[in-house]
Amino acid sequence: MHTILVTGGAGFIGSNFVRWALGRPEANCKLVVLDKLTYAGNLENLAGLEETYPDHYFFVRGDICDGDTVAELFEKHAPNAVLNFAAESHVDRSILDPMEFVRTNVLGTATLLAAARRHWPEESWDRARFLQISTDEVYGSLPEDRPDIKFTEDTPLAPHSPYSASKASADLLTQAYHDTYGFPTLITRCSNNYGPYQFPEKLIPLVIRNAMNDESVPVYGDGKNVRDWLYVSDHCTALWDVLSTGEPGSVYNIGGDRELRNIDLIRMLLDILDKPHSLIEFVNDRPGHDRRYAIDAGKLKSELGWEPSSDFREKLAETVNWYREHTEWLERVISGEYLATYDRIYRRGWKE
Ligand code: NAD
Ligand code: DAU
Repeated sequence: MHTILVTGGAGFIGSNFVRWALGRPEANCKLVVLDKLTYAGNLENLAGLEETYPDHYFFVRGDICDGDTVAELFEKHAPNAVLNFAAESHVDRSILDPMEFVRTNVLGTATLLAAARRHWPEESWDRARFLQISTDEVYGSLPEDRPDIKFTEDTPLAPHSPYSASKASADLLTQAYHDTYGFPTLITRCSNNYGPYQFPEKLIPLVIRNAMNDESVPVYGDGKNVRDWLYVSDHCTALWDVLSTGEPGSVYNIGGDRELRNIDLIRMLLDILDKPHSLIEFVNDRPGHDRRYAIDAGKLKSELGWEPSSDFREKLAETVNWYREHTEWLERVISGEYLATYDRIYRRGWKE
């Protein structure tokens, strides 16, 4: 049985991964989730797992920057893989307060890498894996008038936001562990995910929540920025394939070839919800807003045989339904702090 340390497992993608992996007995793995439970982490996302999988699932509340906590986990559970989901993940918050992004995303990754290297004897490195879950945002922005150009693994890193700069730093550090020590690292860079359990500060759940409450739906700038959307379970299968068969020291892009302008996506969501387009309100743009992301996932497909299996329109409608059926979840995750940040971005237009 593989033992995997899953950091950030109480967040959006982490909790989807944990549920997905535990639901596949053939994966035969024990998952030890380490999560600080920041505003974005929620134990409700993992509800019922302790009872259903008492021998395969363990939760520990803690900070990836805390070397003692991380060392204790390595000693107690002896994981042979690390999946590092833990991060400050929202671009807008990184613009308001960059320091927490540097701490968790850079120092946290450094702490995990150091602990894994200390606890894994070199003879075990052919079986051990450290998977750093990164993002397409590290590549910067693509021109909107060149649909033929997409991000490949060879695209130079050119992050623009404090969030993407902190993720790029973590990638460089992870790669340095491979290049310097021969440490068995893997890096994945995925495009925008959507699905259940996403915190409603991100575009899709924010639009759904606001529209359900007949509140205005804020669109940054001219709404023509493009994002490349992937259903979260397709991200999970890609991570599993990379973890199981990826070449140590490699980077793999993950994406679903589903580019959409924000305004078109928002109109689609309003149509699914049967709400009027008049709810759309153009607001001050996000500073440094990347224009277009598009992922070329050719390497992952040709080398590891991965394919996304989700139909976009079907999964978008399912996602809308999930939020419709989980309004209590939505309202519970929104604290006073969420409302204060909402106010800073949308009502005060990025001003203090
Ligand atoms: P999220 O914000 O929903 O979840 C992050 C989780 O990390 C939360 O549970 C939070 O409590 C935890 N966390 C934060 N700081 C921590 C710390 N110091 N110690 C321990 N736990 C901590 O994020 P997400 O959208 O699920 O993203 C997960 C990962 O995937 C991130 O690394 C992100 O950069 C990457 N990613 C996200 C997307 C996307 O579209 N959401 C796309 C590509 C890559
Ligand atoms: O590309 C992968 C990245 O996708 C991940 O690394 C990040 O963790 C994740 O948050 C996401 O980043 P984005 O900035 O692309 O996602 P967000 O949902 O914040 O915004 C999507 C697009 O919608 C972006 O162009 C900004 C725009 N937007 C967003 C919000 C919250 C709006 O127009 N209005 C809004 O209110």
